Amino acid sequence: MIYGTSYGHTARMVKRVAERLTELGHRLSVWRGDALPSEQALEDFGAVVVAGSVRYGRHQRFLEEFVRSHLSRLNGMPSAFVSVCGALAPGWPPGQEEARKYLQRFLTRTGWRPEFTRSFAGGLPYTEYGLLTRWVMKCISQRTGRPTDTSRDWDLTDWASVDHFAAELDGFLKSLLPSAVEPQAASVAGPS
Ligand SMILES: Cc1cc2nc3c(=O)[nH]c(=O)nc-3n(C[C@H](O)[C@H](O)[C@H](O)COP(=O)(O)O)c2cc1C
Repeated sequence: MIYGTSYGHTARMVKRVAERLTELGHRLSVWRGDALPSEQALEDFGAVVVAGSVRYGRHQRFLEEFVRSHLSRLNGMPSAFVSVCGALAPGWPPGQEEARKYLQRFLTRTGWRPEFTRSFAGGLPYTEYGLLTRWVMKCISQRTGRPTDTSRDWDLTDWASVDHFAAELDGFLKSLLPSAVEPQAASVAGPS
């Protein structure tokens, strides 16, 4: 699993999916996409999950670069892309279409064709933002029906859906990669 994050929300989501997959017997490694160990080869893995968050309409550039530079391998192996954004927060119907566009733009820009794609609503960690970002995010929240109380952080993720996604991924991987599952040796490796 390779991810990008600005305020840690996508990292938490990836950790959750990794925990679920580990419980289900998968062996996996989790890496930040901007801190990949150079000695690690994609060929060592049976499947790849990339997860990124949207910032000003676009996912992390280093994730795009990672996908582009491993494109033929990624398109020839089981893979999934997870997109985390604010637009999908409950109560703003146009957000569905917006989230779909972010995800599709990443795939178009990179040429990647993952079997699994999923978008999730992220968070609004107002207390972690600088003054300007907090003000901008509050304005956007007013327009899109998201929480505007900036004195606290907001978690807008439906974590049950994240668990469900992990279960779907498990079923998919087990159907293709029975050798990836070793309940005795299950572990999560790498920085997460
Ligand atoms: C500066 C900034 C810009 C953002 N731009 C967008 C955006 O264009 N569209 C969107 O849907 N969400 C946007 N978001 C919301 C983030 O995608 C959301 O907060 C997500 O949970 C961030 O996850 P992360 O902490 O893993 O980076 C933005 C958030 C910030 C702080």
